[in-house]
Amino acid sequence: MSRDIKPHSVVLGGAGFVGSHLCDLLLSEGHQVSCLDNLATGREVNIRHLLGRPDFNFSVQDIRDSIDLEGPVDFIYHLASPASPKHYLEMPFLTLETGSKGTQNALDAARRFEARYLLASTSEVYGDPEVHPQVETYWGHVNSIGPRSVYDEAKRYAEAVSMAYQRERNTDVVLVRIFNTYGPRMRPDDGRALPAFISQALAGDPLTIHGDGKQTRSFCYVADLVRGLYAAANSRSCGPINLGNPSEVSIADFAREVIALTGSASTLTFHPRPEDDPTVRKPDIARARDLLAWEPKVNREEGLKLTIQYFAEELGYEGARDPQTAPKRVHTRAPAARRDRPAAERQRGPKTFVGKRNPDGGVAR
Ligand SMILES: NC(=O)c1ccc[n+]([C@@H]2O[C@H](COP(=O)([O-])OP(=O)(O)OC[C@H]3O[C@@H](n4cnc5c(N)ncnc54)[C@H](O)[C@@H]3O)[C@@H](O)[C@H]2O)c1
Repeated sequence: MSRDIKPHSVVLGGAGFVGSHLCDLLLSEGHQVSCLDNLATGREVNIRHLLGRPDFNFSVQDIRDSIDLEGPVDFIYHLASPASPKHYLEMPFLTLETGSKGTQNALDAARRFEARYLLASTSEVYGDPEVHPQVETYWGHVNSIGPRSVYDEAKRYAEAVSMAYQRERNTDVVLVRIFNTYGPRMRPDDGRALPAFISQALAGDPLTIHGDGKQTRSFCYVADLVRGLYAAANSRSCGPINLGNPSEVSIADFAREVIALTGSASTLTFHPRPEDDPTVRKPDIARARDLLAWEPKVNREEGLKLTIQYFAEELGYEGARDPQTAPKRVHTRAPAARRDRPAAERQRGPKTFVGKRNPDGGVAR
């Protein structure tokens, strides 16, 4: 791709946890970035530092309805979808419609602009896997009618329709399967294990383990993940490609790591395991190494320290800004100094445009 002006990248779901980090990376790589989000689970605070930049534009849009974009467009990153079980169980129809109608709208936009399109799929397409670690050639073990199916099957459909566009309509598609990712800008209340553990450890409350804690997960730091998304979009592969950190840990050991790094006196408490919760989870990343020369660089201790510091600040704990250590023994239940309350905008609303479009466009081919 040769051009003397900035490439234009569109991030659907760009005000979310991963999407906002991807916007940061794309801007640092010299892209013009359009961020579209309906703020169902994302937060404007995640991208507030970017508003007003001439190379960044934020637009509140629900991709289930339509996608309103000024072209030319070079890349479309489709990250729009609730990702935490709490959110997709609260919003089953939004999740299904975003994965189906929303994905098709994203593909139509990619086709219209002849853009490279990346689908942020998930390790959940493997379900409760019988193959370990999970390789891309494994077809999965998913309960198509259980409560989690609204997410798992929406993503499986999104993969299927993306591949149909690739085969039948010549759309330039790459599928990426993301494994558990964590880092700053996760919502403390999003219900996933890591935000829950850190919030509980900081508060000195018992850490809630669902099941016996022997189920395993593999956690990837968000900076590593967005490097992988960028590499996949800039490759010629159509995937699927697993992106995740293969370092596997049991949930109980992970909780103990969080307790140690926060310096908390918290204990563990065990509760029933949710239906269809996967027993093991670990990516085989040979394909990402081979095709993208990608692998994670941030180890869990390093990533957890950065994330704990973010949560401590977000929740208003003393000592959160100490650069040397994670906040320790600050279980004062300080009032939450949240910069923004979660705005779960579940209704579709009119499109509003926030931020400015680069007057130079910077987007022409
Ligand atoms: N974080 C992970 O561990 C993980 C793991 C596997 C896959 N993924 C995938 O990566 C993507 C980003 O995940 P995340 O953790 O940042 O979640 P997130 O909930 O923080 O971000 C998703 C974003 O999509 C937006 N969105 C949802 N429906 C929309 C719609 N109809 N129209 C416009 N915007 C919409 C939300 O408001 C939010 O900003 C998701 O597609 C998710 O399925 C994430």
